[in-house]
Amino acid sequence: MALKLLALGGDGIGPEVVEASLQVLEVASKSVGLGIDLSEDLLHGACFEKFGRFIRAETLDKARHSDALLVGATGGPRWDHIVVDGGPEEQDGLMKLRHELQVFACLRHARAHEALLARTAFKPEVIRGADVMVMRELCGGAMFTQTRGIDETADRGRRGYDLNEYTEAEIERFARVGFEVARRRRGRLLSVDKSNVFVAGKLWREVVGRVGRSEFADVDLTHFYTDNAAYQLCCRPADFDVILADNLFGDLLSDQSGAIAGSLGMLPSACLAELPVGGRTEKPAIYEPVHGSAPDIAGLGIANPIGTILSVAMLLDYSAGEVVCARKIDAAVDAALNEGFATRDLGGTHSTKQMTDAVIRQFRAL
Ligand code: IPM
Ligand code: MG
Repeated sequence: MALKLLALGGDGIGPEVVEASLQVLEVASKSVGLGIDLSEDLLHGACFEKFGRFIRAETLDKARHSDALLVGATGGPRWDHIVVDGGPEEQDGLMKLRHELQVFACLRHARAHEALLARTAFKPEVIRGADVMVMRELCGGAMFTQTRGIDETADRGRRGYDLNEYTEAEIERFARVGFEVARRRRGRLLSVDKSNVFVAGKLWREVVGRVGRSEFADVDLTHFYTDNAAYQLCCRPADFDVILADNLFGDLLSDQSGAIAGSLGMLPSACLAELPVGGRTEKPAIYEPVHGSAPDIAGLGIANPIGTILSVAMLLDYSAGEVVCARKIDAAVDAALNEGFATRDLGGTHSTKQMTDAVIRQFRAL
């Protein structure tokens, strides 16, 4: 059966990198005899321009009936000030999709690429071998709370607030996926919180600890305060395996981990509603690069497609169960980098197309 894929380029460089990665997907899927039933649609700003809303009901419906979604990037100064009716998820087409599909487990992968070591901000001996999976809770916390607003107080002027709330059940389901991911990697899970200050952080630490002790005694669990984790990630990135973070901390730490890879443009993500137990996930999952829409370089054909190409690899892994093919894409990316291909963000001069062609050529040669 063909894999039902919904591609949503979104804004800025989004459509360019999605188009590039679909070329890689076509070659890769053919090589393993996997059919792709592709449809495309508009998301966020691009959708707003045409339909006056950030996502259409029919797009959401299509998403619910897809196996996987591939998203480019969303947002831009043109739409940032627009406020539409409804909660936080209505203000952003991508947030709405995450919420609707309940893809609470976001895996953001950063690794040091040998060819790019000297291009990172780190000394090669500090960065070599680093391979970090930042797991970001994607459907809760301050980013999705309904308890938010700007209002007038009686005596302190205006106040703005977004409640950072997590239920025990939300922490539990996310922690379980985190432990499973750690189990499939090097067996180490670092959970981050600010339980020295926030009461919500105390519950986070308690619940993650309990899940670890009762269900995953084989995984080596450590707790850090998030500020310390951010610092250590700079000092000794190669010591990290899986980081388990809430929505906000995960947003910050995943961007920070982009420095390990040499550019935020290198980072892929998989946003899952469940972790497949062998084989592939049944529920629709979203795959997207971690970078933003970079409106300043949109349409110039110079965006780095690797974050999206590696997202396609994650798609083949988690939504199609094609693990070998997925790792072949990872290897093809490294081979293209080793050959000297580099887009502007990596300090090179190659175009999106040249980089994509190089990856495809390397894939075919493997
Ligand atoms: C990300 C982005 C998004 C987020 C924005 C575009 C809403 O920063 O995917 O990391 O904060 O989740
Ligand atoms: Mg972000």
